[in-house]
Amino acid sequence: MALTSIILVAGEGTRLRPLTYTLPKPLIPIMGKPLVVRLIEGLRDVGLSSFYVVVGHLGFLFRQLLGDGSELNVSIKYVEQRERLGIAHAIHRAIEEGANGQLVVHLGDNYFGEGINSFIREFMEGDYDVFIVLTRHKDPTRFGNAIISDGKVVKLIEKPREVPPNSYVVTGIYMFKDSRDVERAFSTLKPSARGEYEITDLIQWFINNGHRVGYAITNSWWKDMGTHQDILDLLYLMLDEIKSRIEGEVRGEVNGRVIIEKGAMVEGFVHGPAYIGKGSVIGRETVIEHYVDVETNASINGGSVSRSIVLDNARLELGRARIIDSIIGPNSRIRLTNGISRLIIGEGNVIESM
Ligand code: G1P
Repeated sequence: MALTSIILVAGEGTRLRPLTYTLPKPLIPIMGKPLVVRLIEGLRDVGLSSFYVVVGHLGFLFRQLLGDGSELNVSIKYVEQRERLGIAHAIHRAIEEGANGQLVVHLGDNYFGEGINSFIREFMEGDYDVFIVLTRHKDPTRFGNAIISDGKVVKLIEKPREVPPNSYVVTGIYMFKDSRDVERAFSTLKPSARGEYEITDLIQWFINNGHRVGYAITNSWWKDMGTHQDILDLLYLMLDEIKSRIEGEVRGEVNGRVIIEKGAMVEGFVHGPAYIGKGSVIGRETVIEHYVDVETNASINGGSVSRSIVLDNARLELGRARIIDSIIGPNSRIRLTNGISRLIIGEGNVIESM
């Protein structure tokens, strides 16, 4: 398939600090795999092989992880977006660096429960100039909104103050038939009030100029990882869909649907749905309650953990403490004695209760 994919991962993820000081959000692993890898694999599996990854904040980490793409069986070129000038500008930068023809643009922090197959098929079969994917959301004013009339997209509004009638939220996958039209549209744009070239303005140009703008409405869940809670919500949704697989060693007890990776050791209790990554140790006195993801080479001794994600190489000594709704950054050290805590902790922090 002669589609070129543009993946946008330049953002700083300010609302996800402190995690994003050292780990850009598309690199946060969930169940052993950073989101950006899942995303590229998903596009590859529908036949895309040429990728432009637009990097900015901590871009070298993407180059380190993904390289030239050969390990994923795709080809990856990197494009720098030095200033935060918005999605339309990032697409323009990729086109400047050689992305051309039919484009599939995917934001690095968006994830679709149903995958993206059917969207790409509809785009290809429908002969559209632009194709977008819409959804319902409880808080539409956080996003771009599309107003639909007579089955057509008639207007796009970026983060409206009030929810317009007959509108849906615009998700972060955008398809274009011809990169030259995108460049034509981009050349007419002015930065918005937040100083960005908005994707919604770019697509509005296509509507205004009589191009065919198609849309699908996703009938599964959709997540944009803007906030800490969004990461946890994405984890819960993904854990809901796992099938049990136990390749590590279980000396304690596991219940329900769990994945225990090779080299992991469970001496305590794990109640599913849960994921215990490679080389991680769940100690004898520990209860993993449910909806927990322990990534690689982490250890938890004592206490209990619920609805949380524990990132690589974190060490938790929990005594009689309970941790809920938490995100524990990589290489952190936590020592608690009792009580219930909610912790959002970046890389390498030390927390001790006395
Ligand atoms: C961006 C787009 C917005 C879209 C959203 C999807 O918002 O501008 O139209 O609905 O992505 O994730 P931002 O993440 O820049 O706030």
